[in-house]
Amino acid sequence: MSEIFSKVKNEIAAVLDKYPNGRSAVMDVLRIAQEANGGHLTKEALGEIAALLDMRPVEVNAAAAFYTMYRIQKPAGRHHIWVCRNISCSLLGAEHIIAYLERALRIKTGETTADDKFTLSTAECLGSCGTAPMMQIDDDYYENLTESKIDEILAEKGLK
Ligand code: FES
Repeated sequence: MSEIFSKVKNEIAAVLDKYPNGRSAVMDVLRIAQEANGGHLTKEALGEIAALLDMRPVEVNAAAAFYTMYRIQKPAGRHHIWVCRNISCSLLGAEHIIAYLERALRIKTGETTADDKFTLSTAECLGSCGTAPMMQIDDDYYENLTESKIDEILAEKGLK
């Protein structure tokens, strides 16, 4: 077991207790491993998860690659921005919000700023449709977004 997995072995054991088999726990174990590894999953970690859950490495890789909340190989910036682009947010300007953030951060969606401070991603519905357009930064929601609100939020996070 790698050093990273050793640090979270109790947390993983608790998760495994909740599921009928290892395969069912794959998403929780990917989340724990990602958090323990500074926000991304290495090829080695994916292999270790496969062995732990009695899955084929290709199955674990497929799960990690399918869901946007997992980052494979490349770590996210210190603040990960997720802009919802699903129907309610799109109708109320998500594409404009994304373009505004790309200009403010000087990156494209999917990229990380040169100082590793911000990563910009898009997400499907984040469950806050009534306060669209919205985004999530790390664990916090920011809703009813406008350009000036985004400026304030980015300033709070240390962009400006
Ligand atoms: S559509 Fe954006 S939170 Fe649901």
